[in-house]
Amino acid sequence: MGVLVVAALCLHGATAQLCEDYYNSTCPDAYDIVKQVLIEAHQSDTRIYASLTRLHFHDCFVQGCDGSLLLDGVPGLINSEKGALPNNGSARGFDVVDNVKTALEAACPGVVSCADILAIAAEISVELVQAYILHSGTLKTVDFDGANNLPAPFENLTVLQSKFKAVNLNDVDLVALSGAHTFGRVQCQNVAAFPADRLYNFSGTNMPDPTMDSAYREFLSQRCPRNGDGRVLNDLDPTTPDTFDKNYYSNIEVNRGFLTSDQELKSSPEAQGTTAPIVDQFATNQDAFFASFAQSMINMGNIKPLTDPSQGEIRINCRRLN
Ligand code: HEM
Ligand SMILES: *[C@@H]1O[C@H](CO)[C@@H](O)[C@H](O)[C@H]1NC(C)=O
Ligand SMILES: *[C@@H]1O[C@H](CO)[C@@H](O)[C@H](O)[C@H]1NC(C)=O
Ligand SMILES: *[C@@H]1O[C@H](CO)[C@@H](O)[C@H](O)[C@H]1NC(C)=O
Ligand SMILES: *[C@@H]1O[C@H](CO)[C@@H](O)[C@H](O)[C@H]1NC(C)=O
Repeated sequence: MGVLVVAALCLHGATAQLCEDYYNSTCPDAYDIVKQVLIEAHQSDTRIYASLTRLHFHDCFVQGCDGSLLLDGVPGLINSEKGALPNNGSARGFDVVDNVKTALEAACPGVVSCADILAIAAEISVELVQAYILHSGTLKTVDFDGANNLPAPFENLTVLQSKFKAVNLNDVDLVALSGAHTFGRVQCQNVAAFPADRLYNFSGTNMPDPTMDSAYREFLSQRCPRNGDGRVLNDLDPTTPDTFDKNYYSNIEVNRGFLTSDQELKSSPEAQGTTAPIVDQFATNQDAFFASFAQSMINMGNIKPLTDPSQGEIRINCRRLN
């Protein structure tokens, strides 16, 4: 794991509130407290760093980083984002978020927002050396439809670009953030079943996705037989499944991206001259990937909630409104 340095990112003013020492005076141990809980969780769950990184993404992309993803459903009142298609049976790590919140409440009651917990947890999870801490509001709303509109694994480059553009993220952000698929797990249904079938019936052709390496296809077909259990887990990066490195890009270079949305970054006709050269660069230059990833995580963490954060609240329990 290389050293990522995010220096001088304390941006003041109305447009940005990212500041690595945001909690210095109100909860000086926040970062260490989160880190301790994560290290403990990781002892029995090697996947947890990946899962928490994904939660931050799914929080920020839906009406900004507001912690709304963490709210449990309340019949007639809250249609939890946890039930939306990209999250249901897939998003995980909520119990660890609870443990982080409990530890933070014990140290500094009512200070650290649930959205910031996800941001800090994601940051620690990818072991950025210097802290960046996002201050964002905690809204009282959920956005179930927005959660259903998250980027999907079967979408083409044009659609992915437009979904990132909608939250002010560019091609470098798209390619760099997708690099989070260097760790974590993915269910068979995302490569072997409609509408994401790349192994048996790609885009209704009754043929495999021609952009997938044939040896990799055979490997995945063993693990994910046609009409098999769609929930079986696979490594997103079979080369180094739990290491945060550039192998996500090296895999794509040899047509071993797992998802359509991964391989599109290199293989789509639209990728030529746009995202493909960025994949090429990161595949050969890990430092360039790390530098871009750190910046793009900040860009993503800076996606603003739609409503004035001061309208929100610091929840005592991330699952419920106070
Ligand atoms: C570009 C659009 C993206 C698409 C279409 C996408 C889609 C997916 C899918 C389908 C899975 C597997 C879920 C499952 O099988 O349960 C997954 C896992 C994951 N994604 Fe993404 N993703 C995208 C971008 C991102 C971004 C921006 C991040 C974070 C910066 C991220 C981080 C992760 C991680 C770490 C996992 C593994 C989670 C775990 O093991 O619990 N993804 N993604
Ligand atoms: C905040 O804390 C960090 C880490 O302890 C320290 O490096 C930094 O100088 C502090 N900033 C302020 C403004 O106190
Ligand atoms: C989530 O998945 C479970 C199990 O497949 C299902 O019973 C439930 O209805 C789903 N929730 C939503 C909101 O679709
Ligand atoms: C990408 O997908 C969208 C939605 O399915 C479709 O309208 C569009 O034609 C596709 N673009 C390319 C270049 O394949
Ligand atoms: C392949 O997919 C198409 C469209 O998604 C569907 O109409 C067709 O029935 C599928 N073929 C098989 C053999 O399942």
